[in-house]
Order: sequence, then C-alpha cells, then structure tokens
Amino acid sequence: MQQPFAESWKIKMVEPIRNSTRHEREQWLKAAHYNVFQLNAEEVYIDLLTDSGTGAMSDRQWAGMMIGDESYAGATSFRKMKETIQRITGFQYVLPTHQGRAAENVLFSCLINENDIIPGNSHFDTTKGHIESRKAFAVDCTVDDAKDTQKEVPFKGNVDITKLDTLLAKEADRVPFIIVTITNNTAGGQPVSMDNLRQVRRLAQKYNKPVLFDSARFAENAYFIKVREEGFADKTIKEICYEMFSYADAMTMSAKKDAIVNMGGFIATNIQSWFDMAKVKGIVYEGYITYGGMNGRDMNALAIGLDENTEFDNLETRIRQVAYLAQRLDEFGIPYQRPAGGHAIFVDAPKVLVQVPKEEFPAQTLTIELYLEAGIRGCEIGYLLADRDPVTRQNRFGGLDLLRLAIPRRVYTNNHMDVVAVALKNVYDRRNSITRGVEIVWEAELMRHFTVQLRQLG
Ligand code: F0G
Repeated sequence: MQQPFAESWKIKMVEPIRNSTRHEREQWLKAAHYNVFQLNAEEVYIDLLTDSGTGAMSDRQWAGMMIGDESYAGATSFRKMKETIQRITGFQYVLPTHQGRAAENVLFSCLINENDIIPGNSHFDTTKGHIESRKAFAVDCTVDDAKDTQKEVPFKGNVDITKLDTLLAKEADRVPFIIVTITNNTAGGQPVSMDNLRQVRRLAQKYNKPVLFDSARFAENAYFIKVREEGFADKTIKEICYEMFSYADAMTMSAKKDAIVNMGGFIATNIQSWFDMAKVKGIVYEGYITYGGMNGRDMNALAIGLDENTEFDNLETRIRQVAYLAQRLDEFGIPYQRPAGGHAIFVDAPKVLVQVPKEEFPAQTLTIELYLEAGIRGCEIGYLLADRDPVTRQNRFGGLDLLRLAIPRRVYTNNHMDVVAVALKNVYDRRNSITRGVEIVWEAELMRHFTVQLRQLG
C-alpha cells in the first residue's frame, strides 16, 4: 500500500478558535454592513479572508525573533535579510518596506508619471491602485484562458505575448516598465511558466523596457514550474527561483505571503539608479534604508522564512492542502478556477448563484452566504474589488467574479478544509433559492471593497 501524504512539520503551539450560531452571525454581519472586512476576528470561525500575514511561523523563525538587532542603522538583521534575498533572487540592491504595497508606493513614486501605461498580468488591486492614483493606466495582458474557469491549462497566470507586443508596438513611449505578478493572484493564484517569463523578457528587450516582478508568491510559482513545466523536475526550488528572477530587473515583495511573516516587504533590484531613487522615497515614507518600516526581529524572521519556504517540502505541504480542498469541491460539483492555484480556491460565483444579476454582486453574495452558513470568512475577488473605471465611473463587470478561499500557511488542518467544503456544499444545494444579491450604500473612490457598506436585497 502506498504511504499517504502528511505535512512536513508538526505542531508546537495552538490557538483556540470558536464557532458561533447562525443568529449571532446574522447580527454581526448586519453590523458589518455585509462587508466581511468589517467583522471582528472573533466573530469568524475559519478565516480564509487572506493568506497574507496570517501564516504560522516556524520555531526557527521565532528563535530568529529573539535575536533581532534593533539598531536604527546598519542592523545585523538587515544584513542577514539582504544576504538571503541576494542569494535567492540574484538582486544586488535591497530596500526594506513595511509591506508589499509600501514597496509599490516607494518604487512607483520614482517610476510612474501621469498618463503612463503599465502592462501586466492581472495587476493586484493595490498595484492597480498605486498606478491609477498616479493617473496612469494598468493594462491587463493576461492570457484569455484565465477567463474560462473550467479550462484546465497548467499556466493560466501567463502574460499573453501577442497582447503585450501589440500594446508595446503602439504605446511603447508611455510604458516605463512591464509588471509580471507571480503567481497571478487575481486570476486565481495561477502560475506563470518559465517559458512565459523568458518570452516577456525577450519582448521587453526588443522595446528596451525593464521588467518588474510582483513577487508575493514567487516560491509557489517556482513549485508549479517544478511540477508542471517540462525540464524542471530535477531542479531545486531555489534554482528555479534564481532563474525566474534572472528575467527581471527588479521585484516588489509582500513578505507576508511566501516569506511567512506577519508583516514585511521589500524592493530588490539590479538597477542602481532605481535603487538610488527608491532610497530617497523609502526614507520619506518608510524609514531609514536598513529597516524601512520593519523591526530587526521581523527582518530575521523574514530571512529564515524565505529560506524555509523556498524548499520543496514546505511548498508541497501547502499546495497539496489547497488541492485537497479543490478535490472536496469536485466531489460536490462546485465550480472554481481550475486547476487549483497556489494559495487559494476561487469559486466561480456567477456559475453558482445563476439567478443573482451581476449588478447585485454574485461573489459578494456568496461570500455572505458562506459566512452565515458556517462562520467561514472568504473574500470577494470580483466586481466590487474591480472598482469603477477611473474615466467613465461605471462598474467594471468585464472580469471574473470570484469568491476566494485563501488558505493561510501552516495554520489549518484538512479537517478545517472539510468543514469549508461541506459548508459550501450546503450553500450550493440551496443555490436556486438565492435570487437577490446586495447593493452599495456607501463606497470609497478607490479600493472600495475594504470599506464598502452594503444592503441585502430581497
Ligand atoms: N501583490 C500581490 C500579488 C498581492 O497579493 C498583494 C497582497 C500585494 C501585492 C500587496 O501586498 O498586502 O503586503 O501590501 N495581497 C493580499 C491578499 C492582501 O489578500 O491577496 P501587501
């Protein structure tokens, strides 16, 4: 008999969680204006809002916390972090920031001007926000396959090279750099192949444009390259990461994901002029260049986390848990972005709530139903998150409308995944009785999904 698969770690510390009644959840959700971001954490049983900053650190990371160097300038913790980043990515210059969007803010302040175009593969919302708030345009060049949730292709996060080429041929003057998000969060945690990264690089060189990787989940991307792309099965994750980054000039990193820390980020690059500009902005926005919004102890934990999470076993444990949840949903026939991605399952809400019109936000409606059903907090990655078009101010209904179940790293067991799957099945079984969604009562101009207030219809 084949040995079953088990986690590559054991548990040393636990945190109690509490279930609730449906009646309690109804009250809490109403008080939260039907926006799960506004719930209190203790009102949530299983929290799949995000995999960002919610992972469980290892004993080695906690040990690193104890020996953090909190010196304002020149801390040993910074140097340890820098050396680890240099070794894994090949980038020489490293600038810490307090999280990923801060890295975007610092770098984009140097690089983006009004009316610029930043092509990429499904820019994350903060990335899009930092582009659009500078009156520039984020143009999505993701492959069309990503729009068909039921189509099984191995690298659904890829950049469509023809789309990118067409755009560059027309608008190269307005493009300061190309951004590639690995893995592609918004398209469903879908990976980008090494071949695609190479092709983007080649095209960028043709137009003399630098390439930036939004690298929040780069280690998960490397895992998929190893297991799905021909020629990489015998390479280590670290070798794959090194090659991936060789096709970029710089990276922004939210270390809250693949470095498994609760807070942290950085910019790394080989372009000295970018580093010199970013240093100035970094000091203004984040702090001195050897801490940039981070504690010394957090930089230690980040360095250790990056090292650990660019090892195969840790990634395999994580990604197989996501695949396990997907397999349970398959048993129930629940449609999600296929194949399962790296950090989350993205349920195709309009395919579940077929009666809820797009103007009433199906994915948000499904998010609400899942919370009411079992106290599970997912997150809408759909029409609310897409914001309004900056020019026409119309809702952007062109993309996918998904309920994301993001799985924190090393936090929940597969028993929790079973609870999630069955709760979703129960909602799925009564899907035809859900005919109305929600309407917006109040919204912010940008990144509205965090604070939007909603009303239930019907
Ligand atoms: N880029 C990607 C691809 C992300 O997924 C995120 C954050 C960021 C940048 C910004 O990083 O949060 O450290 O400022 N994603 C989280 C999520 C919030 O839930 O997907 P940050």
